[in-house]
Amino acid sequence: MRKPVIAGNWKMNMTPEEGVVLVEGIWDLVSGQEQAEVVVCPPFVDIPAVSESIRTKSMEIGLGAQNMYWEETGAFTGEVSPSMLLKLNVTHVIIGHSERRQFFGESDQGVNRKVKSAIDHGIVPIMCVGESLKQREAGEMQDVVTSQVKCGLFELEERETDSIIIAYEPIWAIGTGVAATVTDAEEAISLVRKTVGDVLGTDAAEIIRILYGGSVKPENISEFISTDNVDGALVGGASLKPESFAGIVRFS
Ligand code: PGA
Repeated sequence: MRKPVIAGNWKMNMTPEEGVVLVEGIWDLVSGQEQAEVVVCPPFVDIPAVSESIRTKSMEIGLGAQNMYWEETGAFTGEVSPSMLLKLNVTHVIIGHSERRQFFGESDQGVNRKVKSAIDHGIVPIMCVGESLKQREAGEMQDVVTSQVKCGLFELEERETDSIIIAYEPIWAIGTGVAATVTDAEEAISLVRKTVGDVLGTDAAEIIRILYGGSVKPENISEFISTDNVDGALVGGASLKPESFAGIVRFS
């Protein structure tokens, strides 16, 4: 049984003070629930304060970064390393979100290096894949998604792969209010799982959790979760309010 994961991607929102209020508001509403693993992914500058709040209140909430670099230290202006994140008790890291691929030029090769580095440091990567509207309309969804998964997982055979999380996020569904249909999400996510099987073997494909992302809200989460292959959600807009995020966590 794969335990569902509900991860909140705060993107470039929330000051450290606001972040603490948000995580505490979420915890008030979700403490005691056991049906899903809950993760919040604040901006870097919020991480120390949110981490401290999670620690002092013994919250069972994972703490994710939204990006990281693969090197340890050095002349990489503006970057943050995995060991810096570990010092702040970061447990997860979003890698290759479509906004990073689109606006910051992240490549599949870079995503692969970051995924490997996260695993080597014991940080759970949440690797994002997904096609644009243009690619979907051109009938390229399968090729795009398969290729992103294969490149992202390249040379991972020797590593501990059971902690990897993959998020399928069609770009046209992100922040638009129009989620993918459950049929479309299930089709793409079963393709992701099949591709994981081709690259890492059937055991890994059985274990790895694959999330859907793109306009998830309390009203539509249960449909996604009820499918065979969707193991939770990566949530943007609806993760910024305790009520809506907690509504997604308590999906049943
Ligand atoms: P959204 O964003 O829930 O606001 O569509 C999802 C994401 O980008 O991870």
